[in-house]
Amino acid sequence: MSKLKIGFIGTGRICQGHHLPVWAAMPDVEIFAVCDIKPDVAQLVAEKYGVKHVFADYNEMLKMDEIAAVDICTPNDVHSAAGVASLNAGKHVMVEKPIARTAAEAQVMVDAAKKTGRKLQVGQCIRFDAASQALKRFADAGDMGDVYYARAQAIRRRGVPTWGVFTSKEKQGGGPLIDLGVHILDLTLWLMGHPKPISAAGVAYNKFGGRADVANAWGPWDPDEFTVEDFAAGFIRFENGASVMVETSFAANIEKDIFNTALMGTEGGCEYSPVRMFREEHQTLLDVTPVGLPTVDRFQRELQAFADAVINDTEPPVTGEQALIVSKIMDAIYESAETGREVTID
Ligand SMILES: NC(=O)c1ccc[n+]([C@@H]2O[C@H](COP(=O)([O-])OP(=O)(O)OC[C@H]3O[C@@H](n4cnc5c(N)ncnc54)[C@H](O)[C@@H]3O)[C@@H](O)[C@H]2O)c1
Repeated sequence: MSKLKIGFIGTGRICQGHHLPVWAAMPDVEIFAVCDIKPDVAQLVAEKYGVKHVFADYNEMLKMDEIAAVDICTPNDVHSAAGVASLNAGKHVMVEKPIARTAAEAQVMVDAAKKTGRKLQVGQCIRFDAASQALKRFADAGDMGDVYYARAQAIRRRGVPTWGVFTSKEKQGGGPLIDLGVHILDLTLWLMGHPKPISAAGVAYNKFGGRADVANAWGPWDPDEFTVEDFAAGFIRFENGASVMVETSFAANIEKDIFNTALMGTEGGCEYSPVRMFREEHQTLLDVTPVGLPTVDRFQRELQAFADAVINDTEPPVTGEQALIVSKIMDAIYESAETGREVTID
């Protein structure tokens, strides 16, 4: 069988640090072409992985018939355009999270995947952790009963990303909500079985971004270039009566960083980090802690799942439709933050 040939669009930090090493270790895959608007970045990667085909314009790369699938690791503003162009060129698409800056941008990707019949998988890598997979098995077995509330948190005390374009509203679509909140919201909705959201209310603040005097784990940033929120929170209602509270920050005066979701159901609850379940048996409260969970590389699991979906012609485990719903929720939270009103989600 010939190898699955992959082209890469955007070969920066996440691509070099996590995607390329995983793809390079897969026997059925060939890293066939790389594209980055920074020629030195693409060249560096090409030399390291022995890639002959190097591009600065993804439209040129997409003309190569040999390429079966692309992996998009650009800033968020390129996800939708590159995704649609790739799908229309007949390629399967793996795109980093968030699927796009807005639900409208995500919608055209979902439509293009449907029209072309090509796979579209979104990089919600947290689902592939051993802890997430264990919780999902319990959730799917109904062990939590009716899950009616969840508290999803991705909050950093001082963790403003100072590489790339993470503080640019235009390039990223938003700050911690779209960058970190997308991970924890996706995990929460997946564990809840993807209930349909009907409305969201939210707030977004920029209290640290415009200041030059703030401590930060990754060093200083340019306050003039910081156009996203540094804290956002939202309250989401679902058609089945459930609700979710989400809190996200790049900077906040809190004790410590938290990346966790806590689900509350009629028969049990759970938390992702540290992974635990909460139950009652014989009028006795129990904390259940999984032991011996395997150590897994979440990116290895995620990208192998995408390769399998392409090779076996099966549905990818993280679909464009699921990511689109999270996009709609985030759009509604941002809109609510601006208008001061609860926003209906279609
Ligand atoms: N799954 C995760 O946990 C995770 C972690 C970090 C980043 N990400 C996502 O990965 C994406 C990239 O993040 P990063 O940290 O690697 O950023 P980065 O800035 O390090 O890399 C992005 C690369 O894309 C290139 N690029 C920009 N526009 C392009 C275009 N039109 N065509 C080709 N290349 C282009 C840039 O030159 C850069 O080299 C973001 O969407 C981010 O949300 C995901």
